Amino acid sequence: MAEYAEVKMIEFPQRGDDRGHLVIVEGMRDIPFDIKRVFYIYGSDSTVIRGQHANKKTEFVLINISGHSKVRIKDGRGKEEIFLLDRPHTGIYLPRLIWKDMYDFSADSILLCLASEHYDPEEYIRDYRTFTEYVKEERKPE
Ligand code: TYD
Repeated sequence: MAEYAEVKMIEFPQRGDDRGHLVIVEGMRDIPFDIKRVFYIYGSDSTVIRGQHANKKTEFVLINISGHSKVRIKDGRGKEEIFLLDRPHTGIYLPRLIWKDMYDFSADSILLCLASEHYDPEEYIRDYRTFTEYVKEERKPE
């Protein structure tokens, strides 16, 4: 069976000085993939739930570079966890095949998303039952 990476929080190197803060995120150094895509989400309020999908291929790192939000993750096999993103020098690593909901955005939230792949709607799974079935099928011993 394939190896599966775990969701984890990552602390990034800081090189701030008396001029201000500087945080570094290098692909394959500070995070476990090369960055092919960057997008960011802001202007979502505390009533909005974003995400609500899993990806067949893409790995992500999410960083609240301003404000805060929460991420609820599900592995499709019964594990569910909630993470608070509230520091510009800390991110969450999301491997492929993780269901994610982003919610509870503060008014000043800017959620930076780093992705291992270019955008391809075909690799997004947006139905939860389809996701659990996909996971079950993929994790079947050969
Ligand atoms: P969506 O996946 O719903 O965003 P989120 O998961 O953050 O709630 O994306 C919203 C729209 O933007 C949807 O029409 C697809 C498009 N989109 C792209 O074209 N490229 C991208 O890299 C992303 C993340 C979304």
